[in-house]
Amino acid sequence: MTKEQKELVKATVPVLKEHGVLLTTHFYNRMFTHNPELKNVFNMGNQQNSKQQTALAMAVLAYAEHIENPGVLMPVLDGIGQKHTSLDIRPEHYAIVGGHLIASISEVLGDAATPELLEAWTVAYNQLAAIMAGHEQNLYSKQVAKKGGWTGWRPFVVKQKVKESTEITSFYLFPTHGGVVPDFTPGQFLSVRLFLPELNLLQPRQYSISSAPNGEYYRISVKREAGTELFADGMISNRLHNFVNEGDIIEVSAPAGGFVLNGDGDHPIVFISGGVGQTPLMSMLESLIKSGSKRPKTWIHGCRDKNVHAFKEVIEHWEGKNEEVKKHIFYSEVEEGGADDLYAGWVDLNQLSDEIFEPNTEYYICGPAGFIELHYRELVKKGIDKQLIHFEEFGPQTLQLN
Ligand SMILES: Cc1cc2nc3c(=O)[nH]c(=O)nc-3n(C[C@H](O)[C@H](O)[C@H](O)COP(=O)(O)OP(=O)(O)OC[C@H]3O[C@@H](n4cnc5c(N)ncnc54)[C@H](O)[C@@H]3O)c2cc1C
Ligand code: HEM
Repeated sequence: MTKEQKELVKATVPVLKEHGVLLTTHFYNRMFTHNPELKNVFNMGNQQNSKQQTALAMAVLAYAEHIENPGVLMPVLDGIGQKHTSLDIRPEHYAIVGGHLIASISEVLGDAATPELLEAWTVAYNQLAAIMAGHEQNLYSKQVAKKGGWTGWRPFVVKQKVKESTEITSFYLFPTHGGVVPDFTPGQFLSVRLFLPELNLLQPRQYSISSAPNGEYYRISVKREAGTELFADGMISNRLHNFVNEGDIIEVSAPAGGFVLNGDGDHPIVFISGGVGQTPLMSMLESLIKSGSKRPKTWIHGCRDKNVHAFKEVIEHWEGKNEEVKKHIFYSEVEEGGADDLYAGWVDLNQLSDEIFEPNTEYYICGPAGFIELHYRELVKKGIDKQLIHFEEFGPQTLQLN
């Protein structure tokens, strides 16, 4: 890229800041009109809200801002790469996306999109695409190098379907051909792909693995997303709950994701979850217990009431058997005379003993965006180093807290 081209791309940052989501919305509409087969690749539920458009716009903006030194974006690009590889995105897709992105810049900017600007953006996009596709190729290579590893979609049979609460059901997924499944780092997710007759489309969704690595199967635990008066029920979660039964086969991609347990050291760990956000943390806690680690582990969980409280008995069992495991459960709706070992209301870290928040402790938070933000800020207020707070949103990653 020439110096002039870099300047031209950087000069687009204010416009992107102002119209980024407009541009990416235009881009998605354009791409799905010309390449409707890609509707099978994207989460079409995420297209209903502007989260996916925002995530793409933010990534493009960050890139334009760091055009001199795109290497600093590596952690961000790794997060995107983890999602891309779990969706079987390949280098050839980058050309399609690039074509629509450049055409969209031209269409949205109108006369302001000079041939020089479009040329500069084409060079910039190709540079970014090469970095991303190269990194993703490395991730694919690492996946196949693992024992039992694979890339892309692979058939798995649901051997067991277990109701964990009125809203959450677990699916035990075994590879149809038998054999081992590769290990993963606790906290990682899978993508699952189902055909939706109502859309006449295949649709992928991510689900965290809720069990520790065991070489034999992956367990996912899915909350049935109920709709509201305005919006229909969640498509894939309801299909899994209502139509996918023991013995059925579904397509699954290999474990991916950067929200993972740091297994090093012997410092304490605190897990903070809201609702179904406990799934990746269940995998982390189970694997620590299985490893015989004596690190202090605190389990802080909030949900509506006991009917929706999944894995209640498992956590009680682990606490009973391991003195270094301590649980703190919050119900936002508690019955009259509810149990003594419960806190009433939403998760409130200030109700817990200061001992839990020792400076050398590591924190893992998972739940809705507002939940993560609240507890992240609470921990920072308590003087916790931001580097020790890890979190994951169950959707396009939109929180910018660090
Ligand atoms: C890394 C990661 C890990 C995850 N792990 C888990 C997990 O372990 N367990 C789990 O249950 N989920 C998990 N999820 C969430 C999961 O991937 C799905 O997003 C979830 O199951 C909902 O999918 P769906 O197809 O049922 O809903 P969708 O059809 O995608 O709808 C999503 C929500 O949007 C609402 N909606 C529909 N139309 C509109 C509209 N027009 N405007 C606004 N809202 C609308 C729906 O009512 C629904 O509540 C994870 C997500 C990620 C990214
Ligand atoms: C330079 C090019 C690209 C950039 C900057 C980019 C950026 C992003 C970002 C920021 C996300 C959100 C990650 C998250 O969930 O946190 C994402 C997700 C995704 N990307 Fe890309 N991407 C690029 C190219 C592509 C290509 C070529 C494809 C293939 C057609 C693709 C398909 C997807 C899909 C399917 C998702 C998940 C979307 C969802 O489930 O809603 N991307 N990308």
